[in-house]
Amino acid sequence: MSSTAIALDRPALPRGGAQAAAAADGGIRLDVAGLAMRYANGHVALHDVDLQVRAGEMVVVLGSNGSGKSTMLKCVVGLNRPTGGAIRVAGRDLARLSGEELRRARLPLALISQHANLVRRRSVLANVCSGTLGRRRRLATSLGFLPHEEIGTAFACLEEVGLPHLAQQRAGTLSGGQAQRVAVARALAQRPQVLLADEPIASLDPEAADDVMRLLRRLASDDGLAVVCVLHQTDLAARYADRLVGLRAGRLEFDQPASQVAPERIAGLYATALQ
Ligand SMILES: Nc1ncnc2c1ncn2[C@@H]1O[C@H](COP(=O)(O)OP(=O)(O)O)[C@@H](O)[C@H]1O
Ligand SMILES: [Mg+2]
Repeated sequence: MSSTAIALDRPALPRGGAQAAAAADGGIRLDVAGLAMRYANGHVALHDVDLQVRAGEMVVVLGSNGSGKSTMLKCVVGLNRPTGGAIRVAGRDLARLSGEELRRARLPLALISQHANLVRRRSVLANVCSGTLGRRRRLATSLGFLPHEEIGTAFACLEEVGLPHLAQQRAGTLSGGQAQRVAVARALAQRPQVLLADEPIASLDPEAADDVMRLLRRLASDDGLAVVCVLHQTDLAARYADRLVGLRAGRLEFDQPASQVAPERIAGLYATALQ
């Protein structure tokens, strides 16, 4: 199939961060209240954490290793079952759902991680198409079995991350930065309202890291996604985030507009860990 044929059919992705944010619900896309997580071994990784994220907003979560950042994102996407609190997405509390109901309620959420985790021997486009799996019942083993519309969506997502020209390339041949942008495209193919990113630039060089951060920022500002990004790079956090959230030992230390967070407060998150 030629890429021209795909491009002609491309459906538009949702747009309009500002409009979405002005919606009746105040634009809140993710509402975490009193989140608690106690692991089976008794370790309490999260205590009473609140977090609200609006459409068009980018929140960066900071905290030292072990402060509970990944635990929080895993609870939100349903990889961890929280032991307390609520996670409201589109008016439903995910913490109270299970099975098929939970699977469907999670569809507005997409998670990207430090490693792109692409299937190396498959094409970039096939990898992006796998992002539509959550909405599809059957596993298609090749692009030929996918509805034309889904291939169009995947191609539009590749355009969104600036890589449509790599659609037919094998994923194993990509640079680290390209692979992470393809992982973002795969997440977008889920048509999420909330994009969660756990240290998405940890294994990238500075230039590729900046590209990915700019992309996440644009997805919030232009496409109205609610973005939650865990970072260790405090300079990039201050540059790109609307709000900074600080976690220390599983507790919320601060949640403030990025311009109002004093550098000492950020430094304090890491200094305390050494004591
Ligand atoms: N499956 C688990 N069982 C028990 N403890 C865990 C588990 N996963 C993480 N933890 C602990 O929970 C705390 C928070 O971990 P994590 O959320 O991965 O931190 P971060 O992402 O901020 O580095 C750590 O002390 C970690 O050892
Ligand atoms: Mg982590």
